[in-house]
Amino acid sequence: MKIYAGIINQYRDYLNLDCKIQPITLSEGNTPLIPLDRISKQIGRGARLWVKFEGLNPTGSFKDRGMTTAVSEAAYRGANTVICASTGNTAASAAAYAARAGMRSIVIIPAGNVAAGKLAGAIAYGAEVIQIDGSFDDALTMVLKISQKYPVAVVNSLNPFRLEGQKTSAFEICDDLGHFPDWLALPVGNAGNITSYWMGFKQYQKTNRYALPRLLGVQASGAAPLVVGKPVDHPETIATAIRIGKPARGEEALSAASESNGKIIAVSDDEILSAQKMLANEGIWVEPASAAGLAGIINQFQVNDREFKDKEIVIICTGHGLKDPDVITHAFEKPRIYQADMAALEEVILNV
Ligand code: F0G
Repeated sequence: MKIYAGIINQYRDYLNLDCKIQPITLSEGNTPLIPLDRISKQIGRGARLWVKFEGLNPTGSFKDRGMTTAVSEAAYRGANTVICASTGNTAASAAAYAARAGMRSIVIIPAGNVAAGKLAGAIAYGAEVIQIDGSFDDALTMVLKISQKYPVAVVNSLNPFRLEGQKTSAFEICDDLGHFPDWLALPVGNAGNITSYWMGFKQYQKTNRYALPRLLGVQASGAAPLVVGKPVDHPETIATAIRIGKPARGEEALSAASESNGKIIAVSDDEILSAQKMLANEGIWVEPASAAGLAGIINQFQVNDREFKDKEIVIICTGHGLKDPDVITHAFEKPRIYQADMAALEEVILNV
């Protein structure tokens, strides 16, 4: 019997981790690469799209890949408390892996801007949740200051071990396709993930020699510091996961995009919500930020399709739709309640 046991066990030889580190794992990774047949057809022009559905990780987002490595390393060092600033997903993931390791977790979040499923997750896994009357960027600044004063392990993506874990998704994509795609499209918030993918692709390319993909990083237009070229003081977007005005790994993200001959663009909240709907129509429900990759690709096909037509495109869907149910339920009328009898039901279903 061969049981899959998480990304550290799967890719240990490729990770910069002390060999004595014991994995704290929830069997994260090994997420499916799903062909988007209908959307590819809708877009036309020879595009072949796939979704890497990272929302199927144990806590519902890609963060688990980086958290298994960051928390395993912190536990190995003897840390007993992890801390992070978060728009929600990092918080839930940190809390789960800390629980697994028997560690204390403290998460600092921007009040009013964390989706319900993420906050519930952090609480369920036992985190000490501190809401601040400020932004994610304020929370991260405070976390770094606290970590200079007290013995706590920061598990935001400034922690290099987060990137070690997150880069494994690039390996999986290549293992599944048998090569790299032409393009990889993904949302960009604090910019750790795009940095990790680029690390992963470059590292894998040293042995397999496949042509590297081009990166399309996508920000929300109300929170697009890497597109406008300076920090955004009051970022605003429905995609609260990427409501970030001062990305910690912004410079690296810009280098990754340009080295790959790709780019970072911004899309509107409407484009994001429309991409979320398109994905749901293919049976893939993701949270708004996670639809940004597809929104970016569709945007680019409208602007100038030369670079994208006839290409194989992998879209990273970073978090599950269940993380943010309110964005769906708020926008729709509550279903009407009918009498519980067959006649009423038949009338509705058959329209008689
Ligand atoms: N997608 C989702 C669902 C996210 O939660 C995040 C980041 C991103 C994309 C962007 O990734 O920051 O590496 O560029 N969420 C962080 C958090 C900020 O606190 O959960 P990034």
